[in-house]
Amino acid sequence: MTALTAQFDVPLGVDSPRTSRKAVLAVLSAWGYVDDDWTADMSVVVSELVTNAVQHGAGFVVIGLEAYGEQVVVSVADGSAVVPRRREPDGRGGRGLVLVEALTRRWHVEEHEGGKRVRAELRPYPDTDREHP
Ligand SMILES: Nc1ncnc2c1ncn2[C@@H]1O[C@H](COP(=O)(O)OP(=O)(O)OP(=O)(O)O)[C@@H](O)[C@H]1O
Ligand SMILES: [Mg+2]
Repeated sequence: MTALTAQFDVPLGVDSPRTSRKAVLAVLSAWGYVDDDWTADMSVVVSELVTNAVQHGAGFVVIGLEAYGEQVVVSVADGSAVVPRRREPDGRGGRGLVLVEALTRRWHVEEHEGGKRVRAELRPYPDTDREHP
């Protein structure tokens, strides 16, 4: 099966998570990924990863999408080589990666152009939707 791929830059700032969600959902919708529950999960994952890239990362944020039928991977790259790690949630946070883990099949971090890229594979897209490619 041919993969559908997209990659785009996100302007850095307080609006980065919202901008990212809009861009990701627009691309996925154009590809036929429109299921409400599934796209809600995707929105949360994108929000948490982009918020982390802005708050804890450095330099830039680049989003990638790869779709192989029901299997869809979103990636968020930033310019810091520091590797994100789940931590014990407390009053100051620590819930973002817990959410990402709960809403994805798997996630991991890889080196990317001097920084890193967090890749997260969503649960399989439900095949009940006839618009699905
Ligand atoms: N892009 C990143 N670059 C560097 N460190 C990161 C990145 N993302 C996460 N981290 C590290 O991993 C930790 C856990 O991230 P997580 O999103 O779970 O919690 P948080 O961002 O601290 O709080 P919350 O997401 O609940 O507001 C962060 O505290 C940070 O130290
Ligand atoms: Mg976070």
